[in-house]
Amino acid sequence: MASWTMWLMTVLVSLTTLVLVSWVLDIIKRWRMPPGPFFWPIIGNLFLFGGQFYLTFIELGKKYGDVFSLKLGMRDVVVLNSLEVIREALVKKGADFAGRTQTVTGDLMSEGRKNIAQGDFTPTWKLQRKLFTGAIRAYATGHALEDHVQGALNDIIAEFSSLEGKPVDVEGHIFKLVCNVSCSASFGYRYKMEDPDFQNLLKISQDFLEIGSQGMLADIYPSLSFIPTPTKTTLTKMFGTFLEYFKRQLDQHLQTFDPENLRDITDHFIKLQKEAEEGGDKDISSLTDTHIRQTVVDILAGAIDTLVQTMRWSLLLLAAHPEVQEKLAAELDSIVEQHRQPALSDRTALPYMDATINEILRFGIVAPIAVPHTTTVDTSLRGYKIPKGTWVMPNLWNVVRNPVIWGDPEVFRPERFLDDDGKVLPKPSALLPFSAGRRACPGEPMARADMFLMLGGLVQKFKFSLPEGEGPPDLTPDPKGAGLFSLASPYKVVMTRRK
Ligand code: HEM
Repeated sequence: MASWTMWLMTVLVSLTTLVLVSWVLDIIKRWRMPPGPFFWPIIGNLFLFGGQFYLTFIELGKKYGDVFSLKLGMRDVVVLNSLEVIREALVKKGADFAGRTQTVTGDLMSEGRKNIAQGDFTPTWKLQRKLFTGAIRAYATGHALEDHVQGALNDIIAEFSSLEGKPVDVEGHIFKLVCNVSCSASFGYRYKMEDPDFQNLLKISQDFLEIGSQGMLADIYPSLSFIPTPTKTTLTKMFGTFLEYFKRQLDQHLQTFDPENLRDITDHFIKLQKEAEEGGDKDISSLTDTHIRQTVVDILAGAIDTLVQTMRWSLLLLAAHPEVQEKLAAELDSIVEQHRQPALSDRTALPYMDATINEILRFGIVAPIAVPHTTTVDTSLRGYKIPKGTWVMPNLWNVVRNPVIWGDPEVFRPERFLDDDGKVLPKPSALLPFSAGRRACPGEPMARADMFLMLGGLVQKFKFSLPEGEGPPDLTPDPKGAGLFSLASPYKVVMTRRK
């Protein structure tokens, strides 16, 4: 018995010593890093990451300045809390801050970080992103995108018409619309609601927002990664189904590929990949089938949740601001004949629509801390040292909602993006819903084109209002989105068909 007690004591003392030594080493390391609040051994500043931590960051910034350090479990985190410091890090020192966090959740999703969103900043990743960006650009300016969005819109317009006059929670409808827009962008065809593949995708996307976005304890305590938790089992199963589906889609595309008839982004990507092969690109051989499959995943994974949530914000903000909606409808009526839906060629003639999209993206910024970055090398910022591998969180919320920059950031006012003659002003550098630098969202051209067509088509046909008798809507983000997302709180709108 005595020897057991001794053994237990020895283990406890050794563990405590280990924890204390690593804590002291962390404190010493922190000495030359950006300042930050006191952190506890093991948990660090875990409690500061509860709830909408982009708001907590604003409060911490008042004490510690534009760049400060925190400890998330065992991970070192540096927060970039102003436009200047975000540009300095992500743009001026772009390569130093272009890494991605390596987590168990991320590894599971991306088959060991073979996608763009989680990939390491390597020559293979640069080529993969270059081809992806090229494919998105080619697709976003072509007729295929227009046909796909307009087709998916027709379904939703029919659904909304049958719900006219009733208060409706539009989330499911928007989900279907965006899922169909994004699936046709990736694979060239739309789904029927009852299609099992479509139902699977819907479920995975919704589950991902719920389970995947919370991550796992092992993400911040890597030494726990070997423990098989229920979340890990669920995520493994979920991503397994998802990847099997993508493999099927990609195989079909490769078998039926025709360079003279590019149906979707996957085709554009395959074409650019073949051109890189023929052109003898030195990194092309490192781009494996898994990378290519994962690039197709990037299209859907990057697009669906961001666009669904931005469209949810859109309809809420328009219903809450009938004056904006009426200006949009009048502008559309003056340019787009009633018998057709808005087309991408109408964009330049619709500046108020352009300004409204900017304002929706600003006010309803869906990714308030972007996707966390890491430093790829030992680097520095504002005279502070930032070691390689540090997690970096740009607080985009504090840029797009900053009163010093915008004057009245809490007011939804598209006019802020227009000059006195109603023309769109050059894009302000503080409009950062897509982030900045090497990791900025490569889907922006497609996201803007999709939003233009979806909003234009919907506002042309319907007036969206808040249900009668309800007070002013809640325009503060839903706490459900925690720190990673800013989501519109649940709401209902009434649709009335425009004559
Ligand atoms: C309104 C819609 C969208 C918003 C607000 C948005 C925003 C963002 C943000 C903030 C990031 C992180 C940037 C960073 O870490 O610094 C990101 C990354 C990314 N987005 Fe989007 N996005 C949208 C739509 C899309 C679409 C439509 C696609 C694909 C077609 C897409 C694909 C991606 C990919 C692949 C990444 C990872 C980039 C990288 O790691 O290099 N996004 N997006």
